[in-house]
Amino acid sequence: MFCFDTVDSTNDEAKRRFRTGLKNTSLFVSDTQTNGRGRRGRSFYSPSATGIYLSLLYPLTEGQSGFLSFTSKAAVAVCRALNSVYSVSPKIKWVNDILLDGKKIAGILCEYVTDTESGGSAVVIGIGINLSTEIFPEAISDTAGSVGNRSVPREIITAAVAKELIMLLNDSGSSYLDEYRALSLVIGRHIAYERNGQVFTGKAVSIDSDAALVVLRDDGRTDVLNTGEITVRTA
Ligand code: BTN
Repeated sequence: MFCFDTVDSTNDEAKRRFRTGLKNTSLFVSDTQTNGRGRRGRSFYSPSATGIYLSLLYPLTEGQSGFLSFTSKAAVAVCRALNSVYSVSPKIKWVNDILLDGKKIAGILCEYVTDTESGGSAVVIGIGINLSTEIFPEAISDTAGSVGNRSVPREIITAAVAKELIMLLNDSGSSYLDEYRALSLVIGRHIAYERNGQVFTGKAVSIDSDAALVVLRDDGRTDVLNTGEITVRTA
């Protein structure tokens, strides 16, 4: 485990260490990040003391892959940990956002890293959780929220997330998907998404065995989404 007061991004630090020889499952945590990154080139607001910013470096053995499975396992791990520590019941917005009372309280960024020297590869699973952050940058002030509690030391929550995540990663079964489905905020909802520059709308009907989102489009066709972002439409 590597702990920092500050770092650019725990994901970047994990990747650097992997490329320079670290080959064991390792956890990187930082009090704050100067370049916390989210998906699609966005930044992840990472103020000191009020959040958890961690990355798990998980070296892969041959044949292990499935980006969606890493992200969805991380989402289940965060929900389990927050539930066990705070007795709150967050929900998952496919595929990487964790929401509580309609606000995003945590995000997940999974990235692959390859060491060209050894040929080995790993996945870096980055998780950011807003625990007690109250003031957010204007751009996200309407959508971001916090667990709203600082009574529990961050190391307790960090340990709970890491334990749940490592347990899920080490289990090659897919029974966690039922839990993922039960935690899903989107199944049964009307959603919008973009594909190849075109916007589609439809009903999210299920999450399949690869954690992909099955959508019955309003034009009657079916789409299976493996990546990208969706918007949940209000009724
Ligand atoms: C998202 O919401 O799009 C994903 C956010 C992921 C943020 C975490 S914080 C720890 C790790 N380091 C980063 O730079 N990003 C992830």
